[in-house]
Amino acid sequence: MKPHISKISEYKNDQAVVCIIGKNSIPDGLFTDAKEKGYAERQITSGEDRVFINSYDRCICIVKPKDDVRQYKVREEVRRAAYKLRKQIKAGSYPELVITSFEAYDNAVVDFAEGLLLSIYSFDKYITRKNEGSCRYPEKILLHSPVNDESIKWLEEITDSVYFARDLINEPVIHLNAVTFAEEIKKAGESAGCKVEILNKGKIEALKMGGLLAVNRGSIDPPSFSILEWKPENHVNSSPVVLVGKGVVYDTGGLNIKTGDFMSGMKGDMAGGAIVTGVIRAVAKAGIPVHVIGLIPSTDNRPGGNAYAQGDVITMHNKMTVEIGNTDAEGRLILADAISYASRYKPGLIIDVATLTGSAAMTFSNQAIAMMSNADRKYTDLLTDCGNEVYERVAPLPFFEEYAECIKSDIADIKNVSNSREAGAITAGKFLEKFAEYPLIHLDIAGVEFLKKDEYYRLKNGTATGLRLLAEFLKRLAAPGPK
Ligand code: BES
Ligand code: ZN
Ligand code: ZN
Repeated sequence: MKPHISKISEYKNDQAVVCIIGKNSIPDGLFTDAKEKGYAERQITSGEDRVFINSYDRCICIVKPKDDVRQYKVREEVRRAAYKLRKQIKAGSYPELVITSFEAYDNAVVDFAEGLLLSIYSFDKYITRKNEGSCRYPEKILLHSPVNDESIKWLEEITDSVYFARDLINEPVIHLNAVTFAEEIKKAGESAGCKVEILNKGKIEALKMGGLLAVNRGSIDPPSFSILEWKPENHVNSSPVVLVGKGVVYDTGGLNIKTGDFMSGMKGDMAGGAIVTGVIRAVAKAGIPVHVIGLIPSTDNRPGGNAYAQGDVITMHNKMTVEIGNTDAEGRLILADAISYASRYKPGLIIDVATLTGSAAMTFSNQAIAMMSNADRKYTDLLTDCGNEVYERVAPLPFFEEYAECIKSDIADIKNVSNSREAGAITAGKFLEKFAEYPLIHLDIAGVEFLKKDEYYRLKNGTATGLRLLAEFLKRLAAPGPK
């Protein structure tokens, strides 16, 4: 359960408290015991970045982020401190936790709260015997002012969206097929005030989305194509931003079946779709004045009786033909249909987000989202900046046209894979670009999405990394002033 967040103007000295300090001094009134205060001060002065003091029914945690010239690194230190303190905070089973700051940067309390909320998440719906009676996280997180209401609202919406997306990414395919995934998208979108349309198999056939239909052939469940739109009256962009999210609810590889352990984590191959939904839900709930559309093509990729096969030639939504060189390169096929469908909105920018290639994961591990772009630099610069601030960093890959040479086909307009494994993330991006009639930023999140162990508050399993990035990007895009 996610704790409830509220703002307080005063706290009492019997409440569990976290204090983020900017210099080495600790505020008066935090400690009632001079000895404890002396101890905490000595620890901080000797270079400790955090001190945890347990006294009877409360705790006092001091957090002193390391100095760094880059403010975004300091912010990340604070979020990580919350992760590092999570077990001690849980062990005390405090009903409430106060977060305050002293001589720290503005909104440090919000960063700590964010780190803590993201660290508290757990996917425990299938655990029948929850550890009743054992330690618990606080039910209430009290942010000690000054902290502005807007940033509390944003924190609330972002963390709700991350929980929502992580739940979907972690949900096993036995409980989440393309149809039920679309239902979840619809529920979330409508509850946030968005317009939602779900295209069923018949409509997808009528639209001749050959990529999505080909991947779906081996499945016994029909595909879905979800469309979310947030268009408030006061939107500031004249042409919409279209977000496209990969919604492969399970990727077996199809007939080119994944071997060894390569199938593990493939229930999370719809992370892009979950992220797009979460982002739009958050911006809508926070009332951000931006016109944004989300497109989420969805299916599983299985080697069923009628599965598409290597050597097939398929015709896509935009009438281009594609030779199938590998059925495991399915993501780009369903995304390509969505990217060409995006043309009807005449978007100012398309951003697709997808667990697309093992190559991106091999290149950047879990530390960066691979970014490829043919869009104006103002967008990639803004995205890079947002990536640093929320610490979901993006790293550019070259997008030279020569990388498209190797996806030429002898028998069709284009092939879905290159003959070699070299530059796999880039050739996948180049494939998508062929279907984009408007500026495109392609984000490959394969390395950051499904983790085998915690990377601080980006917990193991589905992380929803990319969600905070894109939400921040849209918020900043809609904000007045220079980007
Ligand atoms: N869903 C996978 C990519 C992936 C790999 C995501 C590891 C997360 C972790 C994608 O559909 C895929 O199978 N890609 C292939 C493409 C290849 C056949 C050209 C890959 O990267 O191996
Ligand atoms: Zn695949
Ligand atoms: Zn895939």
